[in-house]
Amino acid sequence: LKAPKGTFDVLPDQQAARERVAEAAQRILEGAGYRRIETPTFESTELFARGVGESTDIVQKEMYTFDDGGGRSLTLRPEGTAPVCRAYLEQGMHKLPQPVKLWYLSSFFRKERPQAGRFRQFWQIGAEAIGSDDPAVDAELVALLSTLLQDLGVEGTRLRLGSLGSPQTRVEYRELLQRFLREHEDELGADTRARIDTNPLRAFDAKDERTQRVMEGAPKLLDHLSTEDIEHFMAVREMLEAVDIDYEVDPTLVRGLDYYARTVFEFTSDALGAQSGVGGGGRYDGLIEQLGGPPTPGCGWAAGIERILLAANDARESQLPVDLFIGFESSAQRRTAFELSMDARRAGMSAQMELAGRSLKGQRKQADRVGARWLAMVGAGTTTLRDMESGQEAEVPPERVVAQAMRGFTTS
Ligand code: HAM
Repeated sequence: LKAPKGTFDVLPDQQAARERVAEAAQRILEGAGYRRIETPTFESTELFARGVGESTDIVQKEMYTFDDGGGRSLTLRPEGTAPVCRAYLEQGMHKLPQPVKLWYLSSFFRKERPQAGRFRQFWQIGAEAIGSDDPAVDAELVALLSTLLQDLGVEGTRLRLGSLGSPQTRVEYRELLQRFLREHEDELGADTRARIDTNPLRAFDAKDERTQRVMEGAPKLLDHLSTEDIEHFMAVREMLEAVDIDYEVDPTLVRGLDYYARTVFEFTSDALGAQSGVGGGGRYDGLIEQLGGPPTPGCGWAAGIERILLAANDARESQLPVDLFIGFESSAQRRTAFELSMDARRAGMSAQMELAGRSLKGQRKQADRVGARWLAMVGAGTTTLRDMESGQEAEVPPERVVAQAMRGFTTS
């Protein structure tokens, strides 16, 4: 039996690198007032259909959807923004001081074709600020993701920034773009042609070279924004510049989710292959209304942990610290060794006892292999305590081993 395609086991040796990502996210995001939230692994299918958008690839072909046996259609969450907004509404978080700042570290599920950096179950760190349309919210979020990627040593990052404007501007622009696409219909790839009616904006994302050439001459949304949206965008840009965050304005930046309005952004890394997106997000001022709530602005991002690890090239292995390894000369001392291991743990040391019937030489080797600071070898009547760094040894009565090793710690 094998793990399902596109999934992976996280083995003990890979934990340290992951914990470092989680620790950095917590430190950086909580330091800015974001508090952790966890939503269910599955939600009603309708949440994503309405939230993420019926015409998106995610909803059309990538969701793990199932009937729960009671006639309800449920879906393994493909992303975190719609669930967090659902929780904001359901839990009455609009009554809290706004904006409500939340972060998450969870796994998500998309039935995509697996390749390097693309999985069917993957992990994201995400941050969402709901209840304020202040451009400083957007700038703060971008800055926090930038800080996180830098902190974790993600190499070769580029930040692309765009604005999609308000829904009204987009409706008008959409018609303009549709007219342009129809005029060039015979030069477009089949995918793009099929989406002229449903999702013309995705044409900017087309992989097909001929389509890409056509799109170079297409009208750009950025040139059609309302004055208010342009001012909002300029304010975000000025704040990013004020804190020396480099970015490129990309008028063709489209994201694979329908809920965005105004600011959108994406960090890519040259250290990654085709799946170069490390993290991205944007503003979703219409989403909560779309889910049945009052008009409520929001903004956020998510970054993939696997892609961060690939781009940070952090191959450090995890080794648990071992203060004391306890061996014994013969099975007559097993009980004493066991008691000693429990005493050591009660005293706050990390302790491991011999559990595999090794020879004396084998036990010393094992103490070395696990990186133990001290080795206590329990013999008949007395115990030899060895300082694994200096090689110094002393005979100590078993009941004094822990105290002796602790004293050793403080003087060494
Ligand atoms: P997204 O761009 O779909 O946005 O995903 C964010 C990040 O998750 C990507 O940049 C990538 O690092 C990672 N990711 C996505 N799909 C996969 C996959 N199949 N395998 C591995 N990593 C993957 C969102 O999910 C939005 N909810 C972000 C957001 C939050 N927008 C506003 N708030």
